[in-house]
Amino acid sequence: MLLGRTNGHDWKRYVKQVCLTAVVSVVLVVIACLNEVYVDAVVSDKVEKEVRILCIVLTTQGGLNGKIPVVNSTWGKRCNKRLYVMCTDRNNPDFLNTCKIGESKSHLTGKVRYAFEHAYKHYLNDYDWFFKGDDDTYVVMENLRYLVSHYSTDAPGYLGYHFKKNVAQGYHSGGAGYVISRQGLRQLVEGGFSTKACLTDGGDEDVEIGKCLQRASVPVLSSLDRFGRETFHTDKAWSHIWGTYPTYLHSYSRNTVKSGTECCSQFVVTFHHVDPPTILMMDHLLYRTSVYGRNTPIKIPNMFQAKQVLPNK
Ligand SMILES: *[C@@H]1O[C@H](CO)[C@@H](O)[C@H](O)[C@H]1NC(C)=O
Repeated sequence: MLLGRTNGHDWKRYVKQVCLTAVVSVVLVVIACLNEVYVDAVVSDKVEKEVRILCIVLTTQGGLNGKIPVVNSTWGKRCNKRLYVMCTDRNNPDFLNTCKIGESKSHLTGKVRYAFEHAYKHYLNDYDWFFKGDDDTYVVMENLRYLVSHYSTDAPGYLGYHFKKNVAQGYHSGGAGYVISRQGLRQLVEGGFSTKACLTDGGDEDVEIGKCLQRASVPVLSSLDRFGRETFHTDKAWSHIWGTYPTYLHSYSRNTVKSGTECCSQFVVTFHHVDPPTILMMDHLLYRTSVYGRNTPIKIPNMFQAKQVLPNK
C-alpha cells in the first residue's frame, strides 16, 4: 500500500478492496506512529506480531546516560521485549540486575548465562526467538525477523556471524549478536546449563555459550543470503565495506570474508563496534530517509512548497 495520494487507477483498485474509512485511519495511524515519515510499514507491523523477539542487551550501568537510551530509541524499541543486562540499582521492567554475578569483563559469560536462564524461566512461551547483542551492536530488527522466519523456532538452532575456531561446530560472534530458537534455548538451559559441563562464568562469553550450545545439540544455522552475503557482522559497516576489518577475521570466519558491495546482505541484520552517534546515523538513514522514486509514495502532498523566501525583517 502506498501512503499519500496515488494515481487514480491504484486508488480505485484499492477502494474496491477495503472501505475508505479504514484506509484513512490506517494512513493516519501509520504516519502518526512514525513521526511523520512517509513509509509503508504494513508488512513489518504484521511480522512484528508473528515473529516475537526478546532482546538481551549486554551492557553496564555506565551506559545509562548514553548507550542505553541510544539503543532503546533505535533498535531496542523494535524488540518485542528487551532486557538490559547489567549491575544496576535502578528499577525498570527493561533492566535485568546482575550485581550478584559481577560487572567486570571477566563476568560476561555469567551475565549472559543468567539472562538466558531468566528468559527461559519467565519468557520461553511469550517470545519466539531470543537475541543476544551488545550495547555497541546495531540491529535491523525487521530483517532479523525476516531471516529467522525461514526457520522453525520449535527446532533447535542459532544464527549469527559464524566463527570456525574453538568449538567443533563453530560458534557465533558475541558482538555481532546471535539469535537462538525457542527449542534451542530450552535445550541450552535443560541440556547445557543444568549439567556441570558448561562453564558458569569466565572465559569468552561467545565461545563458552557456543560450547554449551554444541553440548546441548543446538546446531549452527546458516545466516547467509542467496548471494552468499553475510547478514551478521563483527565490525562497523564501513569496515566491512572498505575492507578494514581486523585481519583475524580471515582465519576465524567460517565463510569467505568479502568487502565492497558483497560484504553485506541487502537484508543486513547487524553490525558491531557501532558507537552511539553512528547508531543514530544508521537509524536515521534506514528509517527516516528515502531515495525519491525508489519505493516511495508517488506523490506526497505538500512535502515541499514552491515559494520564494523573503529576507527577515
Ligand atoms: C525503551 O523503549 C520502549 C519503547 O519506546 C519503552 O517502552 C521502554 O520504557 C524503554 N526502556 C527504557 C529502559 O528506556
